[in-house]
Amino acid sequence: MIEIKDRVHCEAALAKITTAEAAADLIKDGMNIGVSGFTPSGYPKAVPLALAEKAKTKPLKINLWTGASVGPEIDSVLTQAGVIARRLPYQTNKDMRNAINAGKIAYTDLHLSHVAQMARYGFLYGGGDVDIAIIEACVIKDLGDGKIGIVPTTSMGNSSSWVQSAKKVIIEVNTTQPVELEGMHDSYVPLDPPYRKAVPLEKPEDIIGTPYIPCELSKVAAIVPCDVTDKVRPLGAIDAEAEAMGKNLVEFFKQEVAAGRLPKNLLPLQSGVGSVANAVINGLVNSDFEDLTVFTEVVQDGMFDLIDAGKLRIASGTALSPSPDCLKKFYANLDKYKKHLILRPQEIANSPELARRLGVIAMNTAIEVDIYGNVNSTHICGTKLMNGIGGSGDYARNGYLTVFFTTSLAKGGAISSVVPFCAHVDHTEHDVDVIVSERGVADLRGLSPKERAVVIIDKVANPKYQPLLKDYFERACKECGNSQTPHILSEAFSFHDRFVKTGTMEVK
Ligand code: COA
Repeated sequence: MIEIKDRVHCEAALAKITTAEAAADLIKDGMNIGVSGFTPSGYPKAVPLALAEKAKTKPLKINLWTGASVGPEIDSVLTQAGVIARRLPYQTNKDMRNAINAGKIAYTDLHLSHVAQMARYGFLYGGGDVDIAIIEACVIKDLGDGKIGIVPTTSMGNSSSWVQSAKKVIIEVNTTQPVELEGMHDSYVPLDPPYRKAVPLEKPEDIIGTPYIPCELSKVAAIVPCDVTDKVRPLGAIDAEAEAMGKNLVEFFKQEVAAGRLPKNLLPLQSGVGSVANAVINGLVNSDFEDLTVFTEVVQDGMFDLIDAGKLRIASGTALSPSPDCLKKFYANLDKYKKHLILRPQEIANSPELARRLGVIAMNTAIEVDIYGNVNSTHICGTKLMNGIGGSGDYARNGYLTVFFTTSLAKGGAISSVVPFCAHVDHTEHDVDVIVSERGVADLRGLSPKERAVVIIDKVANPKYQPLLKDYFERACKECGNSQTPHILSEAFSFHDRFVKTGTMEVK
């Protein structure tokens, strides 16, 4: 067994060290299992792998609750083993996505700030809370009085609340995670209504909790060693379109500063997941903006680049999600980066109260937008799940300024990212201020739906589809007598219908 005794600083806890197989045996059919992890960062690996092995001879089903997406040792391996009955609140895994879209896993797509409180309120399927929490740690501290402090690793996610609520806790001590991660975390669980108080955070750098997750030692059922690394993924190369979107955003910010609508160092930036979001943040690395702050969910490569460029004061998030190269850079320079990074529970990182108070600039990526400004972030052609809403709704609804990015075309031009009506709506026209594509910036603030349609078709849509979109809009205006939001109901999904039937949204 891997030696972890020098990371367990509590004499009484040492007796709980056991194997992943023994810990997996504690997991029973029908249990709600809450795991640490957010993106392929800070999730347990040894116990899920042992659980998949166990399921080969003793089949069982669990309800899996995470922070967001996690690594393949959970989402691929447990899906392939047929162990997951229900899954929430977000995923990005191909095996999991296929199983969801084949109806084999019941998936509940939730705003990420809601998850922990919904579990505590008893709102999740079956009404129960977490039966067993499995949490990755780099160190276990002795807090005295029968209490320990679990020092998390590269993410916080829902770990603090899972540990607080769970009947039993399994801790995986990961020896590949540096002990120097200690000091980066700020664990805090709000009280629930009617006792809830204001979250006492007024600046992205404020610390409001403890650098460990407190836990009664009596709840700890097993402490398991693990030496499997986080399976962080490379980001897509920054292509010309992503670079153009980054430049468009920077120009827009400059105009906002000049107009006095944003301070010189902007406001705390929230940036979504994926290649596009990372490329857009990269646009800021090459800009003149300085003394920036980030209040977001996921800290990706672009933010490490901003720290290297001396332009980022503080990044507050719930997970580090760097590429493999960037993770190496982080580990090699932990002391330098630690000064600029805080990891918080997603309940806090994504808190609507804080997004509104801090005046976050919310920046997320859309799958498609419609001519009136509704945004689809989750469903391809309205039916097939892509990933989930993630934290985009937490920030979009509550930000100071809400921006969505989309390239004007997808799938080599067979798809227009601007359609007459989104085939699934995650963010309504009421929550969308600005849409940026590689072609330009549609500033929708203060416009009526018909005014928005003109700007979106002009600034965001691709010339290949502009005539079709204009034709639809003009005929819809005539047919509806110029009503508030004109549509021809029998044609509103005609772009999607054509794509499904012919493989392209173009009219041949
Ligand atoms: N129709 C069909 N497919 C589309 C599409 C459209 N209109 N727009 C994009 N896609 C496909 C792309 O072709 C690509 O497919 P591939 O994986 O087969 O290559 C895939 O969707 C991802 O698109 P990409 O352009 O690479 O962007 P991305 O990696 O930045 O991801 C989202 C975009 C929308 C899927 C992703 O940002 C997401 O899941 N968002 C929702 C959650 C969220 O916003 N979280 C952030 C909160 S902090």
